Amino acid sequence: MRFGVLTGGGDCPGLNAAIRGVVYRAARFGHTTVGFLDGWKGVRDDLHRTLTPAELAESVTHGGTVLGTSRTNPFKKEEDATKVLATLERHHIDALVAIGGDDTLTAARELGRRGRPVVGVPKTMDNDVAATDWTFGFDSASSVAMDALERLRDTARSHHRAIILEVMGRDAGWVALATGLAGGADATLVPEEPYAEPKLMEQVRRAHAARGYAVIVASEGIDLPVDAAGTTGGDEFGHALLRERGVGAWLAKRIEAVTGIETRSAQIGHIQRGGAPTLFDRLLATRLGAGAVDLALAGKFGEVAVLHGGAIVGVTLDEAVKTTKVVDAGWLDLLHTFDA
Ligand code: F6P
Repeated sequence: MRFGVLTGGGDCPGLNAAIRGVVYRAARFGHTTVGFLDGWKGVRDDLHRTLTPAELAESVTHGGTVLGTSRTNPFKKEEDATKVLATLERHHIDALVAIGGDDTLTAARELGRRGRPVVGVPKTMDNDVAATDWTFGFDSASSVAMDALERLRDTARSHHRAIILEVMGRDAGWVALATGLAGGADATLVPEEPYAEPKLMEQVRRAHAARGYAVIVASEGIDLPVDAAGTTGGDEFGHALLRERGVGAWLAKRIEAVTGIETRSAQIGHIQRGGAPTLFDRLLATRLGAGAVDLALAGKFGEVAVLHGGAIVGVTLDEAVKTTKVVDAGWLDLLHTFDA
């Protein structure tokens, strides 16, 4: 068989481990793999290169994606869809492995609906893909954010300040939740809950009174009365650029104005998406890449390899993109157990 592989959407640590999982697993059974560059753009424009196990041997330790990525939507225009189908035929691709989040997998589902052999691998630092217990990239990104919070805590303590850490998370607050819980934040704000100003101010005052400083984690997607011009427009899938809302900076001004406590903010942005993947993400990505090849070899096209209760299993692309997985009530309850 001839496999094709692509990585689409925002990058995250673990993508190279997943690509490596695909290429080695395919090679183990005597199959070759063509890598398409820059996500669906590479399939549309026929940008490709053959991938060998030897060249990917070390890649499990590297962040980013050796294939490049983009937020190209190949089914936005029918002429692009035609080019995608032509490229797959030209390379005699028997199975395309699409590695990506909701948008990439939705495009994969469309390809499947057009009768092409496609399987998927979920990834995103946002951890918001339904049907998988965890996505790779999330553990690495949240670990970076947790480290940032600890650094901010040191300087907040020295200056007796409040400091807000703004983290990524487009539709779901998983990264904020993990960072706040594991980093011991005095307050953690997620998009799943409405902005409750009196409660936040009280938490900041209480922490400051008790220890002389406060650290707060806020997801970029929280519901605040800010809407910078930059959030309009967005990418080919219609997503706004949330970092331009500047929720951390807005909150810092507000906290200082209401409580009188000197407050700063830090936005770590894409620092969360780079660097070496954690052990957890390397293993998960490796298993999912190999698992996607196994799905294709078993003829289970239109399925995505996911983590379910510790095992790698296949679910349909429909199932995988049906809903966005947001932080649920159980996690929120645990989070608020530790409110200041
Ligand atoms: O991939 C999702 C995500 O990491 C979001 O959390 C964030 O809002 C967005 O990507 C940022 O995208 P870009 O890389 O296009 O700035």
